[in-house]
Amino acid sequence: MNQMAIIGGTGLTRLPDLTIVRRERVTTPYGDPSSELVFGRFHQQDLVFLARHGNPHIVPPHKINYRANIWALKEAGVTCILAVAAVGGIRADMVPGKIAIPDQIIDYTYGRPHTFFEVDLDLVTHIDFTHPYSPWLREKVLTAARVAGVGIVDGGVYGCTQGPRLETAAEISRMERDGSDLVGMTGMPEAALARELGIDYACCAVVANWAAGKTAAEITMAEIEANLIAGMDDLALILRHLVQA
Ligand code: HPA
Repeated sequence: MNQMAIIGGTGLTRLPDLTIVRRERVTTPYGDPSSELVFGRFHQQDLVFLARHGNPHIVPPHKINYRANIWALKEAGVTCILAVAAVGGIRADMVPGKIAIPDQIIDYTYGRPHTFFEVDLDLVTHIDFTHPYSPWLREKVLTAARVAGVGIVDGGVYGCTQGPRLETAAEISRMERDGSDLVGMTGMPEAALARELGIDYACCAVVANWAAGKTAAEITMAEIEANLIAGMDDLALILRHLVQA
């Protein structure tokens, strides 16, 4: 039996429609997760919710204790994670307000504790990360979106930057040449840590703005927030159909 978790990012500090059964403040060998684990019922299904940036939203992307978050979910019996993340759109079809289900990652982060396989190893361990997102879970999300009638972008390369500042126009041009279609700050090491613990993991990326240099306008927090609010209705529909499947 699968136990699903949703990690909520910017714009999703709490999950509407979640009937909370209990909240648990847990600790792990890696320290404390960003927030308490919220156990509840979401459209008649059991679900665990974790606010990636804390509740209230105070932990910046480079300070998130990704290892504690993923470890805590594993300890709670979670077998699959849908990670919701705000991103900037690089490719022309990654329009603000739209939701994309990326299928690849390029990691531009640095200095983040990024593995569980560091000490006390019997053997040096290398996970296969050819396909960083769970194909099985991605298919489920795509089907849920289709059934819900929500038009999403199937696939795309998520380029993960260090933050918390946004990128320069030249950095986005370089990322585009590398093949990045979306830019966000929290996709890594989260996805790799889930793989290390054998948890199925997929990402629902909500496009909050055009990436730096894609328009002449300055990127503002007000714009990001407005587009995230616009994308949340579609996201809620996808999540509902996903858990009911
Ligand atoms: N860059 C990086 N992360 C982001 C962006 C962006 O433009 N928008 C939302 N998260």
